[in-house]
Amino acid sequence: MDFEGVKEKTLVLIKPDAIQRSLVGEIITRFERKGLKLVGLKMMTLDEAVLREHYAHISDKPFFPGVSKFMQKSPVVAICLEGLEVVKAVRLITGITKAREAEAGSIRGDFAMSVACNVIHASDSVETAQKEVSRFFKADDLYNYSKTEYENVYMEDELEK
Ligand code: PPS
Repeated sequence: MDFEGVKEKTLVLIKPDAIQRSLVGEIITRFERKGLKLVGLKMMTLDEAVLREHYAHISDKPFFPGVSKFMQKSPVVAICLEGLEVVKAVRLITGITKAREAEAGSIRGDFAMSVACNVIHASDSVETAQKEVSRFFKADDLYNYSKTEYENVYMEDELEK
């Protein structure tokens, strides 16, 4: 089977609250079990400049300084996932921003209560995902390999463009 069509990528940041609460493995496991392909993974600290860029859409909101401080409390783990319509799939698994109202079974629904300490960030559109992946990963940090599991994850006709 040809999996060349399954190249959509998205960015997930595992936030400082999840690092403190030892949820990194659990979160990555959920994405792996879904059938998504891990193509990038790194731990990093975020500075004010990258947070201003990443959160440009909320940088004029009164809660932005709090979000920025929270995101610098400890390192984060950035992961890049690949799959068919992966941006949409990851947003569903993530759950809505206000975690205490997020659907049970989603990551935020199962592990968080806050609108800011909501364990992960996930790109919200294909266009945003492209920008966010390149914000946190250089081309060399992303891996291209074949995943044998794909033969049991997708039907061939789903992959035809
Ligand atoms: S989202 O998930 O991007 O669609 O959510 P959005 O509503 O655009 O929020 C963007 C990020 O801002 C944080 N946020 C808040 N923090 C503190 N207080 C309030 N009221 C608040 N509202 C939104 C939220 O955690 C989002 O972070 P990310 O990393 O995108 O999840």
